[in-house]
Amino acid sequence: MPLLGFRAELLSVAEDPAAAGPESVRHEPDGLLVVEDGIVVARGAYVDLAPRYQDLSVAHFPGKLLVPGFVDAHVHYPQTERIASHGAQLLEWLERHIFPAEAAFADPVHAGSVAAFFLDELLRNGTTSALVFATVHEASVDALFEAALARNMRIVSGKVLMDLGPPTLRDGLVEGRAASEALIARWRGRGRLGYAITPRFALTSSDAQLADAGALLSEHPEALLHTHLSENFGEIAAVAERFTGAKDYLDVYDRFGLVGPRSVFAHSIHLTAREMERMARARSGIAFCPTSNLFLGSGLFDLALADRHGVGVGLGTDVGAGTSFSLLATMGEAYKVCQMRSLSLDPFRALYLATAGGARILGLGDRIGALEPGQEADFVLLDPLATPLLARRTAGASLHERLFALQVLGDDRAVAFTFVAGRPAHRRDSPPGRGA
Ligand code: GUN
Ligand code: ZN
Repeated sequence: MPLLGFRAELLSVAEDPAAAGPESVRHEPDGLLVVEDGIVVARGAYVDLAPRYQDLSVAHFPGKLLVPGFVDAHVHYPQTERIASHGAQLLEWLERHIFPAEAAFADPVHAGSVAAFFLDELLRNGTTSALVFATVHEASVDALFEAALARNMRIVSGKVLMDLGPPTLRDGLVEGRAASEALIARWRGRGRLGYAITPRFALTSSDAQLADAGALLSEHPEALLHTHLSENFGEIAAVAERFTGAKDYLDVYDRFGLVGPRSVFAHSIHLTAREMERMARARSGIAFCPTSNLFLGSGLFDLALADRHGVGVGLGTDVGAGTSFSLLATMGEAYKVCQMRSLSLDPFRALYLATAGGARILGLGDRIGALEPGQEADFVLLDPLATPLLARRTAGASLHERLFALQVLGDDRAVAFTFVAGRPAHRRDSPPGRGA
């Protein structure tokens, strides 16, 4: 494969600036990224690096900001068509809007159609990697993985375990394990895919199924554990009522062997200090989903509490409870949620959470998220002039101001190009129907 060069303003944040300080921000105002076989092989100032690569074919993007591809640390592909469903909080919203929509994924043709749309939507928004809920149906994961393989995206997903789900959307203990194992065996080592053992949440699995999920997790050291935790007060009360012996919500999962370094807990809004401390000790990660938490009225995630305990955090859109596929918009909403908690979320830190922070909680921190040499070349070209208002706001502005404006005012319109493993995967201004 020939070497490819990408010249633009480069920006990445490999470590959490809240812990590692401003040195974690890497910025080349006129930079060059050199890519071979989908991997970053060199990165630096254009004037320094270009002379070392005489015959390099260079794509130049003046005025664009090149950042790592976004990582969506929690999203539901089968809920794509139910985004913006009005009028209820979590448990009623699930019953009224979500469970009927997910039941339709018994049809693999429907699953394939939604999976393709969903992944194209991620790419339009600059998201190149995601941890994704499918449905209870084994074929829903096949549909997503096939579509992700065709796009060479880094997607981690798994069949949802829910033997106490509604009658139309329920598996059994034996069937749930067999389908999970079949999927793990079928997809192991293919493309850039990974498997997550996915009990929906404590309320939709029997004790036996939660214990079986723990057993699966210990039998498959490469798999993640992906579930929901402490999102809504009605949910938390129902968990406390059912699991009377548990110390708290996290302890329910802990008793079944589900709390460890490969576990990702979406939401984690109403955690006690004990739960946060336990999560830190276990090195589990949290997917902070601000647009979802506001939309469902779930509450305000306490990032400062997670920071005090040193818990790793990524950002999730959580569509369909989330209201946008854009990680830019999600960073903007994260800022507002933190404001409500008297924490000022720095835009460089927000970018970390949406890239390397998410990669880290997915166990992918060495491969994606920072565009360091040796990492995979998934990246996005952001356009600070994408809308008349953005252009006005960013005229003559500092990097800090431009990045923050992109987070507060930007969305898919600000994503000019998305590259996956060094290849074009989305071009905003391509003629309709022409793709990249
Ligand atoms: N808890 C259990 N299932 C779900 C879901 O589909 N969405 C959200 N936001 N929370 C959940
Ligand atoms: Zn969710």
